[in-house]
Amino acid sequence: MNRFDDKVVLVTGAAGGIGKASAERIAQEGGKVVCVDIQAEAVELTAKQIREAGGEAIAIACDVSDPASVSSSVDGAIAEYGKLDSLCNIAGIVHFDNTHELTLEKWNKVLAVNLTGAFLMSQTALPHLLASRGNIVNMSSTAGIAGHPWTAAYSASKGGLLALTYTFAVEYGKQGLRANAVCPGSVKTAMHDQFRLPEGADAKLLQRIMPLDTFRGPETAAALVAFLASEDAAHINGESVRVDGGTLA
Ligand SMILES: NC(=O)c1ccc[n+]([C@@H]2O[C@H](COP(=O)([O-])OP(=O)(O)OC[C@H]3O[C@@H](n4cnc5c(N)ncnc54)[C@H](O)[C@@H]3O)[C@@H](O)[C@H]2O)c1
Repeated sequence: MNRFDDKVVLVTGAAGGIGKASAERIAQEGGKVVCVDIQAEAVELTAKQIREAGGEAIAIACDVSDPASVSSSVDGAIAEYGKLDSLCNIAGIVHFDNTHELTLEKWNKVLAVNLTGAFLMSQTALPHLLASRGNIVNMSSTAGIAGHPWTAAYSASKGGLLALTYTFAVEYGKQGLRANAVCPGSVKTAMHDQFRLPEGADAKLLQRIMPLDTFRGPETAAALVAFLASEDAAHINGESVRVDGGTLA
């Protein structure tokens, strides 16, 4: 018996990095995965690779910050599989700026994708998740727990995501819904490779966001996503767990 046999899981951000690794992990454990991402071709490739490896997956192109796009993705999942057991909100973006130079446009964009996107997906999926007594896994960050330099909008979005997670956990917990958060740090992905020290910034502050030993791959965060989305975590609700190589230890 696999942990996700007969389970339907929608994963956002599934075109790459932690989202793709989570979709693959859940499919390997028997889940039917709805792979959602704004990158249409890349997310189609994720689903194709899962199917070629013997798993079950479909891809849906969706901008999680757009309510109409979110509705169509949840409708698409239900049309294909008839139910939803878990929603993993993994899509996210980041910018690195000195906070005194951060534009309102960038602030709004990061909040729209990382925080409003997870809210829209969760709210839209909620009736289906309540029907299945399912769960939500939100991708927060060490930046949502402690101070990170140069990521004011990102950090605010990830802190907000923790608060949103706890709200869902308490408000709907008695109806059987669980909501938990994963807080990665130092995970090697495209987002990680995007890092650029802002002009004039103090490079010594980088020590605040370094792992104790080494950077690791997205499968390390995916393992935690799969655990929290599975029945192994049936008694865990309203929790956030770091997977950061000890960065915040
Ligand atoms: N890599 C790390 O060390 C790290 C640390 C903390 C948190 N995280 C979080 O993990 C999540 C995954 O990041 P990653 O490191 O795998 O980076 P990534 O850039 O590889 O993945 C992010 C995915 O989100 C998708 N996406 C972006 N905007 C979208 C939108 N509007 N609608 C739908 N999809 C959209 C991208 O296309 C991409 O596939 C993010 O929420 C990120 O904040 C990552």
